[in-house]
Amino acid sequence: MANENCIISLQGVSKVYNGNTVVDDFNLDITKGEFVTFLGPSGCGKTTTLRMIAGFETPTSGKILLNGEDITVIPPHKRPINTVFQRYALFPHLDVYDNVAFGLKLKKIPYEKTDKKGNKVTKYRHYTPKEIDEKVLHALETVDLAELESRDISTLSGGQQQRVAIARAIVNEPEILLLDEPLGALDLKMRKDMQIELKEMHKKLGITFIYVTHDQEEALTMSDTIIVMKSGVIQQVGKPLDIYNEPVNAFVADFIGESNIYNATMAGKKKVRFLNHIFDCIDDFPLNEKVDVVIRPEDVILTKVKEDSKTDKVTGKIKTKVFKGVHYEYLVAVGKAEVEARDTKDRTIGDFVTIEVEPENIQIMNKELTSNIYREAWINNKNQVVIGEDPFDCDVTQLLKDSKIDEDGYLVSHDGKKYDLNDADVTAEIGLDKVELIDGFDNGDTNGVIVSIVYKGDHYQVMVRTDDEEDFIADTIYTYNEGDQVSVKVKKENIRLTLKGDISKYEKE
Ligand SMILES: Nc1ncnc2c1ncn2[C@@H]1O[C@H](COP(=O)(O)OP(=O)(O)OP(=O)(O)O)[C@@H](O)[C@H]1O
Ligand SMILES: [Mg+2]
Repeated sequence: MANENCIISLQGVSKVYNGNTVVDDFNLDITKGEFVTFLGPSGCGKTTTLRMIAGFETPTSGKILLNGEDITVIPPHKRPINTVFQRYALFPHLDVYDNVAFGLKLKKIPYEKTDKKGNKVTKYRHYTPKEIDEKVLHALETVDLAELESRDISTLSGGQQQRVAIARAIVNEPEILLLDEPLGALDLKMRKDMQIELKEMHKKLGITFIYVTHDQEEALTMSDTIIVMKSGVIQQVGKPLDIYNEPVNAFVADFIGESNIYNATMAGKKKVRFLNHIFDCIDDFPLNEKVDVVIRPEDVILTKVKEDSKTDKVTGKIKTKVFKGVHYEYLVAVGKAEVEARDTKDRTIGDFVTIEVEPENIQIMNKELTSNIYREAWINNKNQVVIGEDPFDCDVTQLLKDSKIDEDGYLVSHDGKKYDLNDADVTAEIGLDKVELIDGFDNGDTNGVIVSIVYKGDHYQVMVRTDDEEDFIADTIYTYNEGDQVSVKVKKENIRLTLKGDISKYEKE
């Protein structure tokens, strides 16, 4: 094998459910002893990947190697892997000790014996009560629950119950511990504490942790390596700092942290145009290439200027200000665009400022023109998504697995939690082939004028600009002329939504 420190290797692993590819050609080596995190939005295939590693699902194609040996079809209980699930299924009628001991009592362990004829044979036995006792107490000490061994499960806090679930997994001394959103059910404070504790447990145990979360902050603070996923496809694998500083595309940049992301065009050698201005940068892309530009708020340099001062720099006006303890977060309006900036100076709303960015802090990425992406979209009180200024019908239940809308319009999770999505910020994505154009105004969801047409061999790629300056790019077989007036329509099921931040902030009390 190429890398002897590799414990799990996924080779061309895919999973297809009813014709839907939910994990698409994963090739990934996980290093022994690392804390590895799968990060991505709901439904991107994180749990499915974990279940294949654990053995609860078989890949549709590809193979999984453990320490170089093919385990693709080995059943879960024969793998040295244990899982901690999001909804920790503890036995409510057993106390802490018995919950942890449960698996051990059933387990049969092989041992070698010489029979009467002198042949070596493998026999099986159960653990002795003393062995069980030692193992359980050791596991409970590791999760810091040693004193609570005789408590009933129902008397424990959420965090303590989660620790029991972890103890129950590590008591088997697995080589790999899989953790599927283990802190999802805890409140923020408890979550932060458990993050630190899990990190310490990882150090203490020295085994490989494979962790799943959709919380980027959690992934950044805990992991040695992060695997960012989107729609069943690996986007980027790397150390937290590398992923933060050098996202490979706009999706990763957007998902991994607060960012300014702009459509930009290369304007010369190491020059890029966005915000109606030409900036120096350090990446060299072909002239006129359409690219995405990412700038972290902490890299935006603001300088106060007079309103009417003449400058060749980008200027804007401070729109909002939030104090964050050490710094302020400002939203600066530059024409119709916005720039998010972080600054320790206390500035006044309405102030005029110049905006500068060091060339090395302008991250330029290839544009994936496979869909229309609207990062400034939001949900209105009718559960429609507003793109530009126009509402589109959409399916908000995709933001939370197994959810539905109740008669009051709230999103309801499978376990009855209610969410009020009014005003929620989302990214909306519409495939180029999902934008329907209809001749004339007022026949669709919004109106626009065709501003460009590119022939693509067997179809045209048409750009429609609405009167609030939102662009819709559509693949079409029909011929249009620049200046044609059209209506744009998108079917409800063709709008893909991703929530900005965690859904918990929209939970109704
Ligand atoms: N047994 C199944 N049968 C059919 N479809 C499935 C099955 N399990 C998962 N899926 C689908 O596969 C996709 C990926 O699901 P998965 O549970 O892996 O996502 P996830 O990234 O863990 O999401 P979440 O963050 O919401 O837990 C989803 O569209 C889901 O509906
Ligand atoms: Mg999941």
